[in-house]
Amino acid sequence: MKLIAIAATSLDGFITRGDEPGTAFTSAADKSWFPKTVEAFDFKIMGRKTFEVSKDYILGLVHNEANDKRFVMTRSPENSKDLEVPNRLEFTKQPPAQIVAGIKKSGVVDPKVAILGGSNIFSAFLDAGLISEFWITLEPLMFGYGTPLLNRETQAKLRLIESSNLGADTLLLKYLCDYSQTNS
Ligand SMILES: NC(=O)c1ccc[n+]([C@@H]2O[C@H](COP(=O)([O-])OP(=O)(O)OC[C@H]3O[C@@H](n4cnc5c(N)ncnc54)[C@H](OP(=O)(O)O)[C@@H]3O)[C@@H](O)[C@H]2O)c1
Repeated sequence: MKLIAIAATSLDGFITRGDEPGTAFTSAADKSWFPKTVEAFDFKIMGRKTFEVSKDYILGLVHNEANDKRFVMTRSPENSKDLEVPNRLEFTKQPPAQIVAGIKKSGVVDPKVAILGGSNIFSAFLDAGLISEFWITLEPLMFGYGTPLLNRETQAKLRLIESSNLGADTLLLKYLCDYSQTNS
């Protein structure tokens, strides 16, 4: 089972422009590529703050007829019980390994799992050694500050497996996480 982390970042490694929540900073090319790409995943996992930013959009999606499932990680799932949609939207305080174990038992053959951030969630799954690949849209912008891709120190090493242009100045970089080298 592959878990793919998908993020758009500035050239200096931020997933938000300063204190501005959301991804208004991304290019038209990424805005077109990202939803089409994410749609193909059976399971999507995100943090509560990322969910809040796109709440109306996501609630619209989970009431359509597709059969993908979203997990929103929160330490207080009881606060969002009224938003849950059986088999489509679940709020959970389970740690990454337990969410993944649940997906393995779901009966979906060769499930595709997208890790959609934010930085708390990217770090939690990376630390747990669960992310297979990072797909990074690199925008030609610098913010100086904002929410970083990860929220804690890591020694992660990755290998570039694919690079392409999404737009004239926007790169899509696909990296394989190489856990065998993490501490070397
Ligand atoms: N550019 C991009 O590609 C991209 C991608 C994703 C997000 N973003 C942006 O990044 C910002 C959010 O990122 P963020 O890092 O601040 O927040 P986040 O990771 O989306 O959410 C953080 C919240 O997730 C919950 N959480 C974190 N770790 C957990 C754990 N181990 N177990 C259970 N729950 C856990 C907590 O929710 P509770 O407080 O409810 O306990 C925590 O407050 C938003 O502005 C979003 O739009 C950008």
